[in-house]
Amino acid sequence: MTAIPASFRAYMTERRDDGVRRGVREFQAADLPEGEVEIGVEWSSVNYKDALATRADGKVARLDPLIPGIDLAGHVVASTDPSIAVGSVVVAHGYDLGVAHHGGYAEYARVPARWVVPIPPGLTTRDAMAIGTAGFTAAMSVAALQERGLDPADGPVLVTGASGGVGGTALAILADLGHEVWVVSGKPDEAARLTSLGAAGILGREDVSAPGKPLETERWAGAVDAVGATTLPYVLRTLKRGAAVAASGNAGGPALETTVFPFILRGVALLGMDSVAVPIDRRRLLWARLATDLRPRDLGRDVTELTLDTLDEGLDGILAGAARGRWIVRVSPA
Ligand SMILES: NC(=O)c1ccc[n+]([C@@H]2O[C@H](COP(=O)([O-])OP(=O)(O)OC[C@H]3O[C@@H](n4cnc5c(N)ncnc54)[C@H](OP(=O)(O)O)[C@@H]3O)[C@@H](O)[C@H]2O)c1
Repeated sequence: MTAIPASFRAYMTERRDDGVRRGVREFQAADLPEGEVEIGVEWSSVNYKDALATRADGKVARLDPLIPGIDLAGHVVASTDPSIAVGSVVVAHGYDLGVAHHGGYAEYARVPARWVVPIPPGLTTRDAMAIGTAGFTAAMSVAALQERGLDPADGPVLVTGASGGVGGTALAILADLGHEVWVVSGKPDEAARLTSLGAAGILGREDVSAPGKPLETERWAGAVDAVGATTLPYVLRTLKRGAAVAASGNAGGPALETTVFPFILRGVALLGMDSVAVPIDRRRLLWARLATDLRPRDLGRDVTELTLDTLDEGLDGILAGAARGRWIVRVSPA
């Protein structure tokens, strides 16, 4: 079975002695990995991990040469799995996609059926990539806080890295659920956009960066953090008794210096978010919620559209901390 042309355009990385060579080239379909589902990729996106996958020191890519792209959305062109129909629109992300299995930065992809999520009614392939792994992680974080009992009546919640993909989407989701959402951002010129997404208050990065006492005034009923570094310790020491932070990222750095006091004196919880390995049934459920009760406000508005030929702009920008919403990649027309 194949409905993929003999060759097609792909953005690839290849390791050389002097670093990683990256760019668009013609890819032979015969070199695609095994899988039950073939997808004509319409959109992909840029995540922090994608940028790492294109760098020699990124420690993310496990295939060489590699078509990166941890997210893809498109239409099924061939399928040997009875549950995935030809012509249906689907999204795939996580697992080995874009790191150990050729990913979304190509006109076609072949993936295992167990990685495929049918796009729920109400979302387009473009919407799905405006969400992408970053937005999915935001939804997963909100769901985890809800499962711990977070309710809008509990008081203000905090979202860090707010101008970025995870943070911006978490802000948009939580605000529409009725929470009073405060954000941390290092970009003062993003204030108007963050307010329009629903931010009730904005803290500067410097407000949360200085070392503090082991416990400070209880402020937040919950938090979503994708920054780590000095930000996560601030969150832990200012969470209310019994509150939780959903931690997914290290945009500020991987080290975590805290005391145990938030945990043992306030019952605070640190919830780890790993979007890569989420089982497919839960992944499909969260996508269904992203189309309904967890649909981010103004979905698709704060995106910068790239193509395979202009992809470097997003890959370099996200590593430089320059995110303002999401970069999405128009791979090929529907
Ligand atoms: N665990 C998972 O499954 C999972 C899934 C997705 C992403 N992630 C991780 O989550 C993180 C964020 O991903 P993303 O896609 O949202 O990235 P992003 O779009 O680049 O957003 C990150 C945001 O963090 C803030 N930031 C950047 N550098 C910083 C620094 N040095 N100190 C403090 N804040 C900084 C910036 O926001 P402000 O300028 O507004 O402060 C930036 O916009 C990354 O580490 C990524 O690898 C993990």
